[in-house]
Amino acid sequence: MILITGANGQIGVDLTETLSARHGADRLLATDLRPPQADPPPVPFEVLDVTDERAVERLLDRHEFTQIIHLAGILSATGQQYPDLCWSVNVTGLKHMLDAARQRQIPLFWPSSIASFGPTTPRTDTPQHTITEPRTMYGVTKVTGELLSQFYAAQYGVDVRSVRFPGVVGHAAPPGGGTTDWAVAMFFDAVSRGSYRCFVGPDTRMPMMYMPDAVKSVLDLLAADADRLTVRTSYNVAAISFTPAELADAISRYMPGFTCTYVPDYRQDIADSWPQSIDDSSARNDWDWLPDYGLDRLVFDMLMNVARRLGHTSLLERLKRR
Ligand code: SER
Repeated sequence: MILITGANGQIGVDLTETLSARHGADRLLATDLRPPQADPPPVPFEVLDVTDERAVERLLDRHEFTQIIHLAGILSATGQQYPDLCWSVNVTGLKHMLDAARQRQIPLFWPSSIASFGPTTPRTDTPQHTITEPRTMYGVTKVTGELLSQFYAAQYGVDVRSVRFPGVVGHAAPPGGGTTDWAVAMFFDAVSRGSYRCFVGPDTRMPMMYMPDAVKSVLDLLAADADRLTVRTSYNVAAISFTPAELADAISRYMPGFTCTYVPDYRQDIADSWPQSIDDSSARNDWDWLPDYGLDRLVFDMLMNVARRLGHTSLLERLKRR
């Protein structure tokens, strides 16, 4: 049985759906602080606060888990506003899961982020092993988590696996409180109102990945032969890098008349402290990582799905005819 925490979050919704299709809903237990939207939920669900050590212990005692997928976390922008909460969920919560995994020898996956890097890190083709001096609390929690993971793997033999996600673009669940959220919000606003006000400047290049690739990276890493894994902090994974202006341009090709304006706020500083592109050769060498989606395919697929979701039938028909 697979335990998923943060199952109602941006990555959790898609990953849970894929795992359910693969293994069957009854092989999963989805948990989150918030109850699921669907009633009854598509897979068995329990409320879990990962910062509550007793609750984590009780849950792990009641079920025989063979894998933990720990996605519960606070993102970067929210983390800057609520640093204590960010530490408690991202570090204390992860430690609870690592301890539970250690006691029961359960393999554990959790996502780190490009936010582990900071302004002193080389910004282009950021290597796997490089300076990690993040300025955000979110980044601090991710680096801490990476070092904890490496320690638990080396010291206690826990099979911890992780990837440093770039901005992940998906349509099933809205992202919440991230610095890369513009790459999702732009699609929803383009379809619903034909314009978007972006909170970072037009030339802010950031590494991004389409959700199906993000899900694939998790499944591929979980399936990898443990002997081949050389990284127990967290693997760099890359797909595409683009700026808001480039994304707006790509959307305009399908939606002439779409306009994007730029009003940078505090998230600009966060974005400017992160890499623009990532070297993921360790992931490619160790577990054959390869993304499927480039920018144009991502844009077309996102527009189709967002148009469907928002009931914009004329756009949907137009896209289908292309
Ligand atoms: N997408 C995340 C954020 O923007 C980065 O890991 O916070």
